[in-house]
Amino acid sequence: MPYQLVIDHAVNAIRAADSRTLSAGLILGSGLGGFADTLENRVTVDYTSIQDFPVSKVEGHQNRFVIGDADGLTYLVMQGRFHYYEGYPPQMLGIGVRIMADLGIKTVVLTNAAGAVNPTFQAGQLMMITDHINYSGMNPLIGDNSARYGTRFPDMSTVYDHGIITAVLSRAKDARLPLQRGVYGMLSGPSFETPAEIRMFGRLGIDAVGMSTVPEAIVAKHAGLRVVGMSLLTNMAAGIESEPLSHEDVNRIAALAAEDATKVLRLILKAVDEA
Ligand code: HPA
Repeated sequence: MPYQLVIDHAVNAIRAADSRTLSAGLILGSGLGGFADTLENRVTVDYTSIQDFPVSKVEGHQNRFVIGDADGLTYLVMQGRFHYYEGYPPQMLGIGVRIMADLGIKTVVLTNAAGAVNPTFQAGQLMMITDHINYSGMNPLIGDNSARYGTRFPDMSTVYDHGIITAVLSRAKDARLPLQRGVYGMLSGPSFETPAEIRMFGRLGIDAVGMSTVPEAIVAKHAGLRVVGMSLLTNMAAGIESEPLSHEDVNRIAALAAEDATKVLRLILKAVDEA
């Protein structure tokens, strides 16, 4: 199934379900799906209702689009994303972002659960992504260039919107919400990293590691969208503390930090609205 056809099916399904003007699109990572439930006047479109649309089998991903309101504006939320480690081809990883672009959305907010590499960070904290290192070995733009979205060799010198990062950090400080900033490194997963890898990533300038987000950020930047990224640091990365890592712990800590995550997401949406 050509990727563009899947995108077109999804755009049509979302438009048929709801015609509100969309102010931004959000992709919610592991444990962060609860933000969608805080929106008002919700309309949902299940991935399974869209012809040929993939579903994420990862626990904690609900596999639906949610359209809903916050502070008088309407947002499109993906509750459930596709990961490289699930076996999807790289080109499939950015379809959510292209659906958002085709719906007229100009800003995407990408969220994830991540392991903290920076030893000054703490599990349960949130981090604004200032830049990324693509250590996955793949790129979602490999293959024919879709010129309708962007150019063959897109610039990546500023992927994440620095004006929004600054505004959100300042507001979080005023609200006494602990919020870090740092570089996100993407690994393919699904295995967690070894302590030696984490020591290496720290030396490379990576503050947090995870298994998502970077393909979506690349596809969004290619399409000329404004990108905002936020990580929920669910654990200290391998070897920083003696505990073994598990997806259950990731989800447990994410649940504990869900309230702060929702608050920071609201600050982000406010900053996007005012940008
Ligand atoms: N490593 C990679 N991905 C993750 C981690 C981690 O420690 N925690 C949550 N997602």
